[in-house]
Amino acid sequence: MIHRVTRWFPFCLGVAGAALLAYAWGGERPRMRLRTYRLPWAPGAGLKVLHLSDLHYSRDHWIQRQRLRKTRALLRTLQPHIILITGDFLHDDAGLVATEQLLQSLPRAPLGVYAVLGNHDYAVYSYRELFRNMGEQVRAQTSFQRKLSALGQEVGRLGRLAWDIYRNQRLRFAVVPNNTRELRHLLTSYGVVLLENQARPLPGRPDIWIAGVDDWVEGQPQLEATLATVPPSAHVILLTHHPDLAYAPATARVDLVFSGHTHGGQVVLPGLGAVHTQGTRLPREHAAGYFDDLPGQGRMIVSCGMGESTPFRFRCPPEMVMVEFVMPWF
Ligand SMILES: [Fe+2]
Repeated sequence: MIHRVTRWFPFCLGVAGAALLAYAWGGERPRMRLRTYRLPWAPGAGLKVLHLSDLHYSRDHWIQRQRLRKTRALLRTLQPHIILITGDFLHDDAGLVATEQLLQSLPRAPLGVYAVLGNHDYAVYSYRELFRNMGEQVRAQTSFQRKLSALGQEVGRLGRLAWDIYRNQRLRFAVVPNNTRELRHLLTSYGVVLLENQARPLPGRPDIWIAGVDDWVEGQPQLEATLATVPPSAHVILLTHHPDLAYAPATARVDLVFSGHTHGGQVVLPGLGAVHTQGTRLPREHAAGYFDDLPGQGRMIVSCGMGESTPFRFRCPPEMVMVEFVMPWF
């Protein structure tokens, strides 16, 4: 009996592993859920905010098509006053088409649509390019011994990269530029207020300002200078693609931060949590959700995002976020 079990165990393990991998690849990625919050905040009581992040649009494929279809169906049911988009519209330039389809589907938001750019709006982080470059480095060597040595170096580099990914260090690798100029043009042509180290008061509500900073990895964020343009008496909602900026001392005067970039970790393992958050200051348990324990009593919403960078999600489906501000005693 024991012999029979040990004989079948590797096979069963292999099947279970393949099934898990298949689920992580195609089980959750085509979904789209709406996560809702009711947050006490007297200055904005009554306001409904739709928060979108990390769309990662690329060329047309069935997962993106499914997700876009569900996104549009959900958007038709929502009536936000404000729409906030915290970057990574693009995964690569081919995603400009889907970005335009999304912009056409946004509900009317009487107080405006505001956005910041994310690191992927500037560049493609391509594993394919990474492996191609590694292969080229090895092939360029003239002798077998040198090829072997180069292979060892490249494998070591890959190991250090994997370690940095696990430790949530800031990553930049195999960068192919995206057409950020075309994206800016597309967004502004649909009336989106793109905040690149800028702040604006809400129309008819000079007491509430929306500030947005450039991306922390690929852009040039100027948090202090941006917040300095907001009148001292005004309340501030801050948009930053990278949640690490929420831990800067300057955000102490911000009422609420909206952020993304983490994709919720994409893979959330039972007992271990988010595998990779891409946030060096951000605690691993803050991979997604609402947090009110930032330094200086700060509050932040981090979205799981609507797309992903590596094609896997496990216990972390794509999401849109709807926030309704209420009076503190409700
Ligand atoms: Fe992203």
